[in-house]
Amino acid sequence: MFQLSSEAKQQVLNELKRYESKQSAVLPALYIGQKENQGYISPDVIKALSVLMEIPESQINEVFTFYTMYNKEKVGKHHIQICRTLSCMLVGAQELTEHLCKELNVKLGEVTRDGKFTVTEAECLGSCGTAPMMQVTSLDSDKYYENLTPESAMNIVRAMK
Ligand code: FES
Repeated sequence: MFQLSSEAKQQVLNELKRYESKQSAVLPALYIGQKENQGYISPDVIKALSVLMEIPESQINEVFTFYTMYNKEKVGKHHIQICRTLSCMLVGAQELTEHLCKELNVKLGEVTRDGKFTVTEAECLGSCGTAPMMQVTSLDSDKYYENLTPESAMNIVRAMK
């Protein structure tokens, strides 16, 4: 069964101290839980946070299901999220997504056989002036890549260990 590490527990407790209401700490706590659980939230993560934060599981679940930045299934070591909103769509986001999926031999949301990559789509990532763009979330980092072409995006992906 999933358990938060002592470091992650401390991070969650620190988040609880930062806010007046416990509910406000649920967003960062879920993010911490996701990082601890190979990049996704399982029912066990919700349960562990509920016990630690003394908040009903249903309330944590509500937040979890409302926001799209939490993964409901296991993702690869590098989670590639390609913006699919208008500015990116108009300059080739669809082609970008199709190219990466084809080259990595996966459908959207699947994990590559070697466990390294998952490609998904995301809503506007706040970099519309340098579209199309993608965010890559790895264990310890979030990186943003802009002004992409299918080829440049694939070169970035190939360079990831
Ligand atoms: Fe893609 Fe805003 S539309 S970053």
